[in-house]
Amino acid sequence: MEKYLCSICGYVELKDGAPDNCPVCGAPKNKFKETENAIKEPEDKENLTDLEKKHIPLMFVNKSCSLIEGCVDLHVKMGAILHPMEKAHYITTIDFYLNKEFISRSHLTPENLQPAGCLHLKATEGELSAVDHCNLHGNWIAEKEL
Ligand SMILES: [Fe+2]
Repeated sequence: MEKYLCSICGYVELKDGAPDNCPVCGAPKNKFKETENAIKEPEDKENLTDLEKKHIPLMFVNKSCSLIEGCVDLHVKMGAILHPMEKAHYITTIDFYLNKEFISRSHLTPENLQPAGCLHLKATEGELSAVDHCNLHGNWIAEKEL
């Protein structure tokens, strides 16, 4: 998937073109590079390889949050086969988007965390996207309607 990538922090812009400033690190437009394969895509969506199953996020929406009334929870894990979380090979970040607009980044460290993340959303409708970054295998995406 060809997308604009921030050369400072690795953020991927899902909309067309580069943003004026990176919503993650604030870098200006000229730090964005149009990048082929900015997000990896499965060769055959019906027949994922083990590598693809480890990296493509699985998204779960829970409309009854136990913390905040009326809140919608989004849970994400990598992936259908659990991705390793070791110093040499791990999921470094998960970026979340609503209607292709960046809303949050989770930074993960390998020693104590699972390859997973969670958001508590005010939004009750829209298209959610999650992009995870593996230090060895790049960026992967999943999308889900709220
Ligand atoms: Fe990986």
